[in-house]
Amino acid sequence: MAHLIAPSILAANYGALNKDFDMLNKSQADWVHVDVMDGVFVPNISFGQMLVKQMKSVSEKPLDVHLMIVEPEKYVDSFIECGADVVTFHLEATAHAHRLITHIQAQGAKAGVALNPQTNVDQLDDLLEGLDLVCLMSVNPGFGGQKFIYRTINKIQQLRKKIVERNLDTKIEIDGGVGLQNAEAILKAGADVLVAGSSVFKSEDPALTIQRLKEIEIGNFDI
Ligand code: DX5
Ligand code: ZN
Repeated sequence: MAHLIAPSILAANYGALNKDFDMLNKSQADWVHVDVMDGVFVPNISFGQMLVKQMKSVSEKPLDVHLMIVEPEKYVDSFIECGADVVTFHLEATAHAHRLITHIQAQGAKAGVALNPQTNVDQLDDLLEGLDLVCLMSVNPGFGGQKFIYRTINKIQQLRKKIVERNLDTKIEIDGGVGLQNAEAILKAGADVLVAGSSVFKSEDPALTIQRLKEIEIGNFDI
């Protein structure tokens, strides 16, 4: 299946969000990645439900909501009510990931689990079946514009192998430091969804950058 591009709205211009959504709506973006940060799980605060609801009202693309918050079980319902189509929480933020995945899906959203750079993909062994998406953080979460941690490539390969062996269709999303310079290597390693913040919004022509990311072609890859 063709890979998906999810521009991260964290890097957009908040004074002119409608303009950025207009660009995204017309672009080849598949999803809009929405980073929710609480200042506790990560050392930064971004935005909450009210802004997500506003984004939903202007977005023609599904909202891919990435919760970088503690106690995600308290908030998933409200984010789904505000229009989240995919809800991803961090494995490191809850003791009850399995329960939360089934709960999110029962509300009609897709469920994703994100892993910080130090968390091994083996931690997903008892969760993979029934999981819609795994978000591998390729930077330490909390800020846009950081450098891609190259070791993530090994993690993508390890996770792809598990997904193929079990014949699952769980998507692998890569988040942090992704751009035209490394997208091909990331896709070749086995990724399905590329999150791209600064590389899209800080480029001269964001819609063209999205198109270039979308048009990257990879042949069959060895596992
Ligand atoms: C980081 C966020 C990312 C961020 C990516 O904590 O989860 O989604 O917006 O930004 P770039 O693409 O600039 O690294
Ligand atoms: Zn994110």
